[in-house]
Amino acid sequence: MTPSRIEEGDHSVYREMAIFTGNSHRSLAEQVAKHLEMPMGDVEVFEFANEEIFVRYLDNIRERDVFIIQPIVSPVNTRLMELLIMIDAAKRASAGRITAVIPYYAYGRSDKKDQPRVPVTARLVANFIEVAGADRVLTMDMHAGQIQGFFNIPLDELTAFPLIAEHFRSERLAAPTVVAADVGRAKLARDLAGRMDADIAIVDKRRTGNNDSAEAMTLIGDVEGRDCLIIDDEILTGGTVASAVKLLRSRGASSIRVACVHPVMAEKAFQVLDTADIDEVVYTDTLPLVRGTFKNVPATVLSVAPLIGDAMHRIHTGGSVGALFR
Ligand code: R5P
Repeated sequence: MTPSRIEEGDHSVYREMAIFTGNSHRSLAEQVAKHLEMPMGDVEVFEFANEEIFVRYLDNIRERDVFIIQPIVSPVNTRLMELLIMIDAAKRASAGRITAVIPYYAYGRSDKKDQPRVPVTARLVANFIEVAGADRVLTMDMHAGQIQGFFNIPLDELTAFPLIAEHFRSERLAAPTVVAADVGRAKLARDLAGRMDADIAIVDKRRTGNNDSAEAMTLIGDVEGRDCLIIDDEILTGGTVASAVKLLRSRGASSIRVACVHPVMAEKAFQVLDTADIDEVVYTDTLPLVRGTFKNVPATVLSVAPLIGDAMHRIHTGGSVGALFR
């Protein structure tokens, strides 16, 4: 689809923005709209008795720069279908450009064929989104960078880790050490440690089978007497964090905080983290907590709404999204 453009000054911008959301995370979408001082667009998204999803835009979106904010959250397959059907409906309503804003990209862990006869579902989901008619994607801290390449349309990937670093900096910890929850997060930990003037350590984790269980095997780095900040992209069962905490405590860490961008949080994760001897858990609002709440461990929620709103504004006006992170 060739988006329609109007000229404004010496740069071109698309026609008016319009923001819509399905049933994934309305409060996040509303906060983004509030940040942009815009109203939410009106759309019906509901299921018939036979579980088929129906979508109808109640606003005229012809030639508009449409942003559909829909993290792929529980129930994952329903919310994914809502997103796809919303994109399809917007395309058929002659939207000028459609950006799928997906703060949490589910199926990201299925990003490679690492066993015989398994799918690469992250790629399949990318295909769905393109085929539905999205012109662009805006997302945040995907499980692996290579997922960007699964799309043939422009994709902007934001990161919430600078926000997380800012939060920990404000706590003025005496001896901070950023701990990568697994080897795959080592570069991230290094970047964060650089931002915070902190040391770095890495947990070598092993997954046993396909049943979500994780075991922290080895620790690279010294955490004796250190204020450890375990970082990960997401927490699901809490198993990765719990086994890392055990290992760090056994090596003499003096305090342990945990941060993730995406609190996917299976039901048991709340109890696992509540009883894991953690000083604080920090996460963002890319997705809502739908399966419980924390009772013991102090929890801090950082909002990504301003960041997403600023990125949408830049996409709309042709500004640099990368400049948000300089
Ligand atoms: C996996 O590689 C991810 O980065 C996370 O470590 C993982 O999703 C966390 O899952 P869980 O909380 O179930 O250990």
